[in-house]
Amino acid sequence: MNPLDPFAQEFLPAVDAEMKAVLAMDDPIHTLYYGMMHYHLGWLDAKLELETGRAGKRVRPLICLMVCAAAGGDWKQALPAAAAIELLHNFSLIHDDIEDDSPTRRGRQTVWTLWGVPQAINAGASMFASAHDALAQLSDQGVTADATVRALHTFTGACISLTKGQQLDMSFEKQSEVSVEQYLQMIAGKTAALVSATAEIGAIVAMSSEKEQRNYALYGRNVGLAFQVYDDILGIWGDESALGKSTASDILTRKKTFPVLYGLAESPELRELYAQPEMDLARAVALLDQLGAREYTQAAARRYSGEAMAHLDAAGPSGAAGAALRTLTTQLIQRQS
Ligand code: IPE
Ligand code: IPE
Ligand code: MG
Ligand code: MG
Repeated sequence: MNPLDPFAQEFLPAVDAEMKAVLAMDDPIHTLYYGMMHYHLGWLDAKLELETGRAGKRVRPLICLMVCAAAGGDWKQALPAAAAIELLHNFSLIHDDIEDDSPTRRGRQTVWTLWGVPQAINAGASMFASAHDALAQLSDQGVTADATVRALHTFTGACISLTKGQQLDMSFEKQSEVSVEQYLQMIAGKTAALVSATAEIGAIVAMSSEKEQRNYALYGRNVGLAFQVYDDILGIWGDESALGKSTASDILTRKKTFPVLYGLAESPELRELYAQPEMDLARAVALLDQLGAREYTQAAARRYSGEAMAHLDAAGPSGAAGAALRTLTTQLIQRQS
């Protein structure tokens, strides 16, 4: 059996219940207000009727709770943080889909496509605020005021890094030359900062030593880097129906993803293609294939995943949760969606 399964089976329903409590409808006049958020989270369909099986992977709350358990804490105490992190992630996706002009997420229309950009901005803002509200409830779980404030500080730091990364990502679309160093700063912000905070907060709630907290933070950062580099592969070569999002838009919008940066550095023909006003998608993918950009990117994802594993070992996770974290780390760079 996969050592991750018992944790996913026990933790994910608890995270969902925590998020549902935070986003509970308070007045029928706010049916659409909550409805848009519930739709995005996969709880309702576009007619705002009940739906099941459309949620995201919820990798981040799983990591947060498993780190808490592996660091010797009580995972139930970390539930408000796990819910907060998943809500923050989903705020970032609602806004990201506007920023990236993406019509599809998790195999369904995006919030902005259904209700328009102004409403989607507001739904995202509400989820951002609700995420902070969820986190503040750590103290109701018996987490000390000091640990709650440190968790909040880590969380808001990740929000700032995430929006810095998003700014770079959008600016790089219009920039013909982007270095690997600049790319790494961009993904460290848009993706790795929240995963790093996820693991660190799990360790903070477990009251582990500062050294352990640092190692868990570095573990999360490297998991996040590997996760995003691998996501860049899925964004070109993934199976669209499994992935639930477009495999054309990264190239069409000239995203400076890891395989594309490699291709641009290696191939004058790809540079020529990227300089044209109309993108020839099929030719761009064929060139990336010929250059071995996919294998090159996969090797980079493996390197970051290896770094993550080294920091995890240094943190010294214990018990079944430690083993499950190792399994998850490996699976994340073999995933289909
Ligand atoms: C998508 O994140 C955005 C990235 C950081 C690459 P996930 O792949 O975790 O998305 P869901 O929540 O499972 O849909
Ligand atoms: C991932 O953004 C990071 C955030 C949303 C903060 P991307 O734009 O790379 O991810 P997808 O492809 O839309 O999921
Ligand atoms: Mg984006
Ligand atoms: Mg996007």
